[in-house]
Amino acid sequence: MKLVTSLGAGAAFWLSSALTGATAQDLNVLCGVDKDWCLTMEAAFEQTTGLDVAMARRSTGEILEQIRDEKDDPQVDVWWGGTGDTHLQAAAEGLLEPYRPAHTGDALPWAQNFYQLSGGTASGVYAGALGFAYNSSVLTGNGLKAPSCWKDLTDPRYLGLVQLANPNSSGTAYTFLATLVQLLGEDEAIRYLAALAHNISHFTTSGAAPVKAAARGETGIGISFIHDAVTQQQAGAPLVIVAPCEGTGYEIGAVSIVKGAKHLQAARRFVNYSMSPEGQATGTASGQNQIPSNARAALPPAAPDISLIRMVDYDFATFGSPEQRRRLLDRFDKEVLGNSSPVVTQ
Ligand code: G6P
Repeated sequence: MKLVTSLGAGAAFWLSSALTGATAQDLNVLCGVDKDWCLTMEAAFEQTTGLDVAMARRSTGEILEQIRDEKDDPQVDVWWGGTGDTHLQAAAEGLLEPYRPAHTGDALPWAQNFYQLSGGTASGVYAGALGFAYNSSVLTGNGLKAPSCWKDLTDPRYLGLVQLANPNSSGTAYTFLATLVQLLGEDEAIRYLAALAHNISHFTTSGAAPVKAAARGETGIGISFIHDAVTQQQAGAPLVIVAPCEGTGYEIGAVSIVKGAKHLQAARRFVNYSMSPEGQATGTASGQNQIPSNARAALPPAAPDISLIRMVDYDFATFGSPEQRRRLLDRFDKEVLGNSSPVVTQ
C-alpha cells in the first residue's frame, strides 16, 4: 500500500530524532499511540504534504509533563494520540491552542462532545474499551483457571502473574484507575488496587506493554485496552480477551496543538489529516484496532464491538480535571505503590 512505501526511511528518521532529541524543520509531533502507528502516520503525512516531520512515541502522562515543562518555550507542535482525559487536563492548564479541524462536522457524536468538553482545543481521533487478556498457555501451564472479572485478578493464585502500567506515565492505567473509581467508589477502588498490586510483577511505563508481555508469555495476564490485545491476537499470540463482568471504562484518544507551537500552519495540517478518513486509515494500515472518530473512516475489520461491552458512563470532565487526576495519582502512589513489595517500573 502506498502509505507504507516510505516506512523504511521514516523509521530511520523516527529513531534518529527520538534518540538524539533532534527536531524537524517543519513539524514536531509527540505520538501517544503504538509505535507502529506513529511510524505509518509519519510516513503517510510526509508523503501527502512533503513536510519533514520529527515524531517520537511517549506515554500520555510523559507527554503532558513534557508540554508543561516546555510551556515557556514549546518544542512540540502537535500531541497526537493517547488518552483524551490527559489532553483535557492540558486544556484546563491552558497548554493547548484552540483549533477547529477540518472534518469536525464528520466526527461521531462522542468525538463532537469531547471537542466541546475541551473548549475547542482537543479533538477525538479514536475510541476503545479497557479490559484484560490472558495467555492461555501460561495459565494452563500453572494449572490456573481463567479470570472473567476485575475482582478475579486479586486472587492470590495469580501472584506475580499480572501486569499493569503505572498511571503516572500511562493514560491506559489512568483510565483503569478512573474506571475503578466510577465502578466501585474511590475508597473501594484504592483498596482493590492495593490488593491487585500484590499480584503485579511489573508496573510498566506504557499502557500496551502488559498485553504485549502476556502475548510473549512473560506474564499471565495483562491489563490494557482491548484493541491492543486484539492486535497481539492477530499477530498469533495465544491471548484470550476479557471484557470484565463488572463493566469497564473506555478512552477517547485525542489530538491537540500545543499553545505557542512554532509551526502552527503545519500543525493545523497535521491535525486536519489525523481527522480525515485517509489519516485515520493509517491505524488499520499499521495493525491497530481502535474505532475511528470520523464517520466516513473505515472501521478496522477486527475492531472490538464496544456496543456489546458493559460500559460505565465515563465522566471525562471529572476525571480529566487537574485536581482530580493529581489527587487520585497521589493516592495511588501512597496507598498502592507505597504498600506493594517487589514493584518495578520499566
Ligand atoms: C496504546 C493504545 C492507545 C492508547 C495508548 C495510551 O497505544 O493503542 O489507544 O491511547 O496506548 O498509551 P499509554 O502508554 O499512555 O497508556
